[in-house]
Amino acid sequence: MKKALILSLLPIFAVVILVAARPEVTAQSKGGIVGVYNTQCAKCHAENGKGIESLQPPDFTDAKWQASRTNKQLVTGINNGVGVMPGFKGALKPAQVAALVGYVRAFGRKK
Ligand code: HEC
Repeated sequence: MKKALILSLLPIFAVVILVAARPEVTAQSKGGIVGVYNTQCAKCHAENGKGIESLQPPDFTDAKWQASRTNKQLVTGINNGVGVMPGFKGALKPAQVAALVGYVRAFGRKK
C-alpha cells in the first residue's frame, strides 16, 4: 500500500526534479554545501536530516543507520540514486558529493 503511494508520487518528483532542481544545482555550485543540501535534499531528507516520513528515507541523526553505512555507499547512493531518490551524478561535482557525505555524517553527531 505504502509502496503504491510512493510509486504514484514518482512522476511528480521526476517533474519537480527535472524542472526545478537541475538548474539550481548549477546556481548553487559556488555556494556552500548547506545551501545545496537545503535546496536539493531537504525536500525529502528535511533540513534536520530526519527526513519526510512518508518517503521513508533514512534518519541521518540515527547512530545505528550511520554505523550501517560506509562513506563509499553514501557516495554511490547520492550519485546513482536509491529507491525514489534520483541520482545526482552529473548535476553535482564529485567534490560536492563528498561534501554532502560529510554533511550527512554531521547529522549523526548532532544529538
Ligand atoms: C525525491 C526525494 C529525495 C531527494 C531529492 C534526495 N533523497 Fe536521498 N534518499 C531518499 C530516499 C527515499 C532514500 C532511501 C532510499 C531507500 O533506501 O530505498 C534516500 C537515501 C539517501 C541516502 C542513503 C543511501 C544509502 O546508502 O542507503 C543518502 C546518503 C542520501 N539519500 C542523500 C541525499 C542527498 C545528499 C541528497 C541531495 C543531493 C538527496 N539524498 C536527495 C529521498 C531523496
